[in-house]
Amino acid sequence: MSDAVVQHASDGLVGELRPPTDKSISHRAVLLAAMAEGESFLIGVLDSVDVRATMSAVEALGASVETVRDDERGLQLKVRGWGEDGPAQPARPLDCGNSGTTVRLLAGVLAGWPLDVTLTGDASLRTRPMERIAAPLRQMGARVETSAAGTLPLRVRGGDLSAIEYESPVASAQVKSAVLLAGLRAEGVTSVLEPRASRDHTERMLPVFGVQVERAGTRAAVTGRATLKGTQVVVPADPSSAAFSVVAATTLRGSTVLVPNVSLNPTRIGWIDVLAEMGARVTRRDLPPMGDEPVGSIMVESAQQLTGVTVAADAVPTLIDEVPILALAATQAEGMTRFEGVGELRVKESDRLEAVRAGLEAFGADVHAGEDWLEVTGPSGLRGCRVSSLGDHRLAMTWIVAGLIADGETIVEDADAVDVSYPAFVDHLRRLGAPVQWA
Ligand code: S3P
Repeated sequence: MSDAVVQHASDGLVGELRPPTDKSISHRAVLLAAMAEGESFLIGVLDSVDVRATMSAVEALGASVETVRDDERGLQLKVRGWGEDGPAQPARPLDCGNSGTTVRLLAGVLAGWPLDVTLTGDASLRTRPMERIAAPLRQMGARVETSAAGTLPLRVRGGDLSAIEYESPVASAQVKSAVLLAGLRAEGVTSVLEPRASRDHTERMLPVFGVQVERAGTRAAVTGRATLKGTQVVVPADPSSAAFSVVAATTLRGSTVLVPNVSLNPTRIGWIDVLAEMGARVTRRDLPPMGDEPVGSIMVESAQQLTGVTVAADAVPTLIDEVPILALAATQAEGMTRFEGVGELRVKESDRLEAVRAGLEAFGADVHAGEDWLEVTGPSGLRGCRVSSLGDHRLAMTWIVAGLIADGETIVEDADAVDVSYPAFVDHLRRLGAPVQWA
């Protein structure tokens, strides 16, 4: 456990930021390559604790994962999948670490095979709701058991599946992906209808592996049985990781930061629209897509004056992981910013709604939260403080940026939680001139 020590960044942030590659796309690239017949080349897979959990899990299930190169651009992997032979029975439970995407997508993959696999994870993952995937997978015919509280360990005994039309009560890409991946092993059309559109990387990547996905509005469907075919995937940079430095540059006077080649998938970048509406000087330039993922660059300069806005529930799935850092931006905006329909934050790597409220309050912000809303009124002069990441990577990064805005010194406890999605975060901020270091 390492702490970060942060001072006020009086000179702003200046330079080019190359955030790590995308976590959601990396998980899917590794999983789909493991399921595929033949060999896949994955270029720029994120090297982080979360994606390593997916890599170890698919290896335990019989896929071969060879690291061809490992550099600043991420991992270059050669993966030989299990294809029509299916995954092998692992010798012991699979540890998914901190990663909700690993456990939920893997449950969908395993549902269609006659194995008996137990999935578990770290203390945080063991508190998170799994019934949301267990229920539809049971409807399809898999035997899925959770703890009495609906949490891990998750025991999946898969087999013959029936196609279902699933109406998901939550807008969750993990639920949607679990059902669609199980649907590949069911005879006929399996569809998922969501209340609002969640990130669509699974729908975009399946066709790259040769499987068509039918899409209309917030409904996606696959037709089974279908076998994936090995292919090549190039992973763009992660917009969620970029968001922390973009907000830092927006709020710190004297900043100019360029972020080249980042995913601009519309289901991921609602936070850019919110910042623009608040008065941030963020411009984006589209570049040629990487495979089926839209890509571009983001240019950001310090804002003159930010203004509070209302973030409606409809937009929330497109910025769900950025609410903590947007809430921090809101402390610097004139008037009230209100986030509606953000109850899902209570079941992330921590209870992020309560943690953001308490953490921002510790910095001296005016912040209130209800069951599924958050209100921040600004502008507030933040004061440096001692605050914990609670082992949550996105809180660690939010509090480090808060420390750059605040007067005096901030200590972020357990800041090495950043390893889950952005191991080089402190190093990258330092390259932009930020006064932050490991304790
Ligand atoms: C993810 C989906 C989202 C997101 C998480 C990654 C994914 O979770 O918060 O960080 O890769 O599918 P939900 O599906 O629970 O909304």
